[in-house]
This record gives sequence, C-alpha cells and structure tokens, in this order.
Amino acid sequence: MSESTGPRPALDLEAFPASFAWGTATSAYQIEGAVAEDGRAPSIWDTFSRVPGAIDNGDHGDTACDHYHRWPEDIALMKELGTDAYRLSVAWPRVVPGGDGPVNKAGLDFYDRLVDGLLDAGITPSVTLYHWDLPQALQDRGGWTVRETAEHLAAYTTAVAERLGDRVTRWATLNEPLCSGWIGHLEGRMAPGLTDLTAAVRASYHLLLGHGLATQALRAAAPGARIGLVTNHSTVAPASDRPEDLAAAARMDGHTNRWWLDPVYGRGFPADMRELYGVELPERPGDAELIAAPLDWHGLNYYFPVTVADDPEGPVPYAREVRLPDVPRSGMDWQIDAGGLEALLLRLTEDYGVRELYVTENGSAFPDTVGPDGAVHDPERTGYLEQHLAACARAVRKGVPLAGYYAWSLLDNFEWAYGYDKRFGLVHVDYATQKRTVKTSGRRYADVIRAHREATAG
Ligand code: IFM
Repeated sequence: MSESTGPRPALDLEAFPASFAWGTATSAYQIEGAVAEDGRAPSIWDTFSRVPGAIDNGDHGDTACDHYHRWPEDIALMKELGTDAYRLSVAWPRVVPGGDGPVNKAGLDFYDRLVDGLLDAGITPSVTLYHWDLPQALQDRGGWTVRETAEHLAAYTTAVAERLGDRVTRWATLNEPLCSGWIGHLEGRMAPGLTDLTAAVRASYHLLLGHGLATQALRAAAPGARIGLVTNHSTVAPASDRPEDLAAAARMDGHTNRWWLDPVYGRGFPADMRELYGVELPERPGDAELIAAPLDWHGLNYYFPVTVADDPEGPVPYAREVRLPDVPRSGMDWQIDAGGLEALLLRLTEDYGVRELYVTENGSAFPDTVGPDGAVHDPERTGYLEQHLAACARAVRKGVPLAGYYAWSLLDNFEWAYGYDKRFGLVHVDYATQKRTVKTSGRRYADVIRAHREATAG
C-alpha cells in the first residue's frame, strides 16, 4: 500500500489482545449480484426491490458489486488492508432455492471456493446464515410469520454446515433480527414490506426460534462450531426528564434492545413489551430453552444512539425519535456518538453476562467521490472509525471481552431501501466499471491493524 495516512490521533491499541480479529463485513444480497446464476432463486429482496418506490432510484441487487465473479479481487483487497477476518453471509436462495427441499450443489460450491480462497489468504471466515434474503418461495407460504420457516432455516443450516463446517468455525445464525422483524413487518421499509403489528410480533418470535433451531443444527453438523447471534442495538436517551419521556425511553429500549436480548439470555420475552404489543406469542413447550441455547459469542452491530419523547398517538412503541440539533451526523442522517458503542459493549458484558464479544458491524456512509487524483478522501469516515475504535479500547480496559472488530463495510454496496447512493465501504466501488479504490479510511484501518500487530508482537 503506497499512501500512508501520516500522523493520526493516538489510539490505545495495546488495550486489544494480540489475538484480536481485525475484519470487514458484507452480506450476500448487498454485494454478490448474479441473482439468476447457478440455480439461485429469488429472495424477498429481489421481489421487494421491484416494488415501485420501495428503493431509492429503483435500485436492486441484480449486479451489485459483482462479488459472485470478482471475489478473488475482493480477497486481494482484504489482504491489502491487512485484515485477518471476514464476515460474509450465505444466500439461502442459492443453497436451497425453494426455501425447503433440494439443496443446490452449485450454490454451495460458490461458498466453498470463497472459504478456501479466504483461508488461503490467511483470513478467517465468519459465516452468517441469514442476512435478510429469505427465499421468496417461503414468503409465499407465510415467511417469518409461520413456524415452518424457522424449521426450514435449521434444515438449510445443516446443509451449509455439512459442507463448510470442516473449515469454518465462527458461525452466526441471524443478522439483526430486529430489522427483519420490526422494519420488515411493522414499518414496511424493508422486505417483505408489511405494516402489521401481529405479523411483526409473530415474525420476531419465529426469527428467534429459528436462531435456536439453527444453533442446534450447527452443534449437530459441525461439532467444532463457535456460534453466535448478531443483533443491532442503540442506546436510548429520553428527550427530557419528564416522566412521560422517561417511560417512552424505557419502551423504546424494550423494543430495540430487551426484546431481542432477554429471551436469548434466558429471561424470556419482556413482560412489559408483551403487554404493550398485546399480541399472543406462538409459544410451544421447549421453545424458551431453544431460544436461550448457550452461545459461544455475541455480535453487536452499532451505528447510532437514539433520543425519544413520549408519542401516545404514534405507532408502537409510542416513542417518537427526537432529532437533536448541533450533533455530528453521518450521510444516513444518523447521530454519531461512539460513547453508545462503549455503553452497549458494557451492557452486554455486565447485564447479559456475554463472555466473548465481537463488534460485527460498525461504520458510516458519506457521499464519497473519486478525486482528480484518482483517490477517495473520506476524512469523516476515518474520524468515525477512529472514534469507535477508541470506544472499543475503552470498553476493553473496563473489562469487556472484545475479541474482534469488523468494519462495515469492505465495499460500497446495495444499502437496502437506500440503494447504491449510501456508501459505507472502506473501498469505493464505481458501479459502472466495478473498479475498486481503497479509500483513505481503508488505508487508516490498515495502519491501525499494522500498528496493533507491531505493538503486540512478541
Ligand atoms: O447495510 C446494513 C447491513 O446490511 C446491516 N446492518 C446495517 C448496515 C448499514 O445500514
């Protein structure tokens, strides 16, 4: 790598253990393209992205970053950055195109090649089984609102684990079930685009049940597997100290954080939220234990904090987000506050007793451009990265068992309902030519990784 980022604010890199995993993350639908190749069938995102007005600019994942064909080049980029870990997701509609039933060998072959390529490059793969691309065939039968989908997730998991489990040890069942459950079924801004509280609560239940069943399937098919769940969270602050706003913040915390963590850590679904939703859960004996199956690690995805005020006339959870003035924001209009990452890492450790943690996603979108010098200078993203790594170091000093950090994202990619305009990559992608350009933030990340290795070598 020729360009150095020069002197930068000091980071407490010695806080991180020598074994710390430095990674980048992506997901299948956001980068692969090749949606109709080698037997892949449509997912709910192929369908949703064709709904007029659902995605900015009418974008879709048909080609995306063409990673399906360019993965060797993308592994070379990871090597150039000096990362030693990579978080990818497997596309269920490539592996079991019908959702259940026959396994598509050609789909598994792709991940087989990718995993071998990563290992050859000295990069540890971390495989997520479900990052939102449900086979459309299952959506047509009720999707996450029906129990069978959780059972089919387990069968698909078995097929993937039987093929990759001899080489992959770090597995995650789901990515951000909150987004599938709440944004996909309640807010309608993500596939499958529903706005139905009953459907959303049922989906949330079956997603976590699917997590439990997939964990069980992984333990059986890949005995060496180290299994985690990846959830996204925000710190929640009340807009004022009025009792109504304090109560709204507690509800938002329940909706965003406790609903997704309490059952996984053996506390069951929070009673206050059950009452608030007023939807009967499709519980069966034994489910609670499955959902709370012991895990080896937890993955935290963190982007922003939220501030809320009471909103009795608004949608569940009757807490309206308040836009704070004069705070730094990313190109997503999300507030930037690295303190939220530190707080959530501490909460997972101290409140939920997590014994091995990864930041499985963290990053920022800004409207990057390629400069006349051919470079992409992104000081805001570099600053975001540095602030959040500093927050991780503080958390580790306070006793958080943080084992790794995965920057979101390796590449600019399909940012769901926002299409391709929101660029999260450490590497810029020119979608017309598929040319990749490492941004200044990527070079800074490479410097940090190198400096950490030097600091802890020995
Ligand atoms: O792009 C997404 C990713 O798929 C899931 N976590 C948040 C990212 C940024 O919005």
